[in-house]
Order: sequence, then C-alpha cells, then structure tokens
Amino acid sequence: MKVLGIETSCDDTGIAIYDDVKGLLINELYSQKKIHAKHGGIVPELASREHAKKIVILIDKIFQKIDMKEIDFISYTAGPGLVGSLLVGATFAHSLGFSLNIPVLPVNHMEAHLLSPMLEFKSIKFPFIGLLVSGKHTQIIAAYKLGKYEILGTSVDDAAGEAFDKVSKLLGLKYPNGKELSDLAEKGVKSNLYFPRPMKNHCNLNFSFSGLKTFTANIIKNNILDIQEKANIAKAFEDAVVDILLIKTKKALYQKGWSNLVIAGGVSANKKLRKKSDIMMKKYFNSTVFYTSSKFCTDNGAMIAYLGFLRYKNLNKSSFLNILVKPKWSLDSLL
Ligand code: KG4
Ligand code: ZN
Repeated sequence: MKVLGIETSCDDTGIAIYDDVKGLLINELYSQKKIHAKHGGIVPELASREHAKKIVILIDKIFQKIDMKEIDFISYTAGPGLVGSLLVGATFAHSLGFSLNIPVLPVNHMEAHLLSPMLEFKSIKFPFIGLLVSGKHTQIIAAYKLGKYEILGTSVDDAAGEAFDKVSKLLGLKYPNGKELSDLAEKGVKSNLYFPRPMKNHCNLNFSFSGLKTFTANIIKNNILDIQEKANIAKAFEDAVVDILLIKTKKALYQKGWSNLVIAGGVSANKKLRKKSDIMMKKYFNSTVFYTSSKFCTDNGAMIAYLGFLRYKNLNKSSFLNILVKPKWSLDSLL
C-alpha cells in the first residue's frame, strides 16, 4: 500500500510517499524560508501563493520517480495552520484523489508531529507522554492510543519555538532562527547570567514563555554586547527553556506513572533538549526518550503520509469527499 502525504500548513510544501512494506520511499520539501526572511516572519498571503506554485512542481518531480497509478490513497494536513495554505493542500489533494479515483484522508498536523518518531522507531508503544514543541505549540500530551490524546499542559502565551525565534531576532540573527540561536548558544560560556524558569513551581503542567522573552529582551536592549556576550545570553536563554520544558515533562511522567517519552515538533531538533532529556530519562526513569532525525522534526510530508497510513489501517477511515480545513484543531478533539 502506498500513501501520498501532502503538507502545506505553514511555510513548507512537503510531499512524500510512504509504503507499508518498504517504508518511506520519497520525501520532497520546498521551504519558503528565504521568501519570508525578507519580511522577518511568515506572510500568510505569500505562503499560500508559494504553495500553489510549488505543489505542482513537487508532484511532477514525484511522478517522474513513481507511477501515479501505484498510489492507493492520499492524506493531507487539514489543520491546524494558516487557512490559505491549508486550502491549497486540501484542494489539491481532493482534486488529485478524485482524478485517480482513490480515497482522500484529512489528518491533524500536530498528531503527525507527535507520531513522526514512529517513522524511524517502530518500538514506540502507546501509552506515552509526548512533549510537542513547535513554532506555534508547546504541549504535554498523554497519548493513550492512536487518535486519543489528553492535553496535560500547554503554553499560556508564546510557544517555545516562537520564543526562540523572537529572542534570536533580538540578537540580530536571521529568521527563522531557532537553530541559529542554538548554534550561537553552543559558543556561550557559563556566566553570571541566570534567567528565570517561569511557572516552575506551579502545580499545573502549563508553560509561559513571554516573560522570559521580555526578560531576555531587556538585557539585550540595555547593554552593548559583543559576540561572546550574545552567545552567553543565547546559552542562558536556551538553558532556561530546556530546563522548564523538562521540569514539567518529568512531572507529567510521574503523574501518569509512565516511562515512555516522545519529543516532537521543530524545537525537538534542539541539541541541548535532546541531550538533557536523554540524561533525565536514564537517571529518573531508567528509560529512553524518542525523537526523530532533524529533517522530520520540522514540517514535512513524510509525517503526513505516515499518519495517513496509520489512520487508514487502524481506524478504518474511509474517503472524505468534503474539502476539510480546520485552522484551529486541538489534539484532544480528533475524530
Ligand atoms: O514544527 P515546526 O516546523 O513548525 C510548526 O509547526 O510550528 O517548528 C518550527 C519551529 C521554529 O520556531 C524554529 O525556530 C524551531 O522550530 N526550531 C528550533 C530548532 N530548529 C527549529 N528551535 C530550537 N532549536 C533548534 N535546533
Ligand atoms: Zn509543524
């Protein structure tokens, strides 16, 4: 069985083919980062226009490698995301599905992130705690089974990725910059800078990053900084974000009495988060953490094709004729 996955929720056009026997066959991505970098952030109107241009080019490329008649069904990101961008992928998926006379399945982008490590690690089993950290979401999820998720904690303001992006912009790094900030932080040394760990002692599992961002912004704005001082700030900021993410994740694992952890979403590419979560899981849970290769952490078509396959196989979902887009679509309200 071959599934074609289409991802257009934000600023990456991703198309992939997943085969139930051979695994991931093709994974094509067109990133719009350079276009939006000029504007210092994503411009939704430009994003949807670019998807419309690039989706056809990518699909052409794919069908040069594989006969389109071999595709058994199509899955696409129906939300959450930017409505114009989602509509390009959804309309394209349904038109292609109609012309090939194959089923079309809308899937949730955050569920796709959450389960993306399963692409590489078949040993991941439900139930598990998921730390979902992307540009727009920071959530701790209790994942009971495919499609059944409880949100244990969430950010009350900025997402972790958003905070990374905003602080790196203040440090003069180019957009999109979570990775650049993290690379700079590697050059940082331990200094007398200590940044707050917001909501550390709150008994709930929620996060807040906007105060930490403002704290960091004030230090940057009130000082003339050389490159080493900037690196030290990046390090202190990254340490604070990683610490608070893991403090709450540890609480969630204890609360549920589980020892399986999956970290997913763009920020899961962060090296310090990976290293510290490895250490935490070994030390406190005699277990391990799962995160995926960097190319599957940020948005991609592979995770959409894979989730489509899982849902089709396990939940027996049949074709949807209606074009579905849900710009807001919470993980605890899936079909
Ligand atoms: O999951 P994603 O591709 O998009 C959303 O669905 O939101 O995540 C993008 C986010 C951006 O905020 C980006 O700066 C962040 O992931 N990111 C990182 C790293 N790589 C990407 N943040 C910290 N460290 C990284 N290495
Ligand atoms: Zn994403």
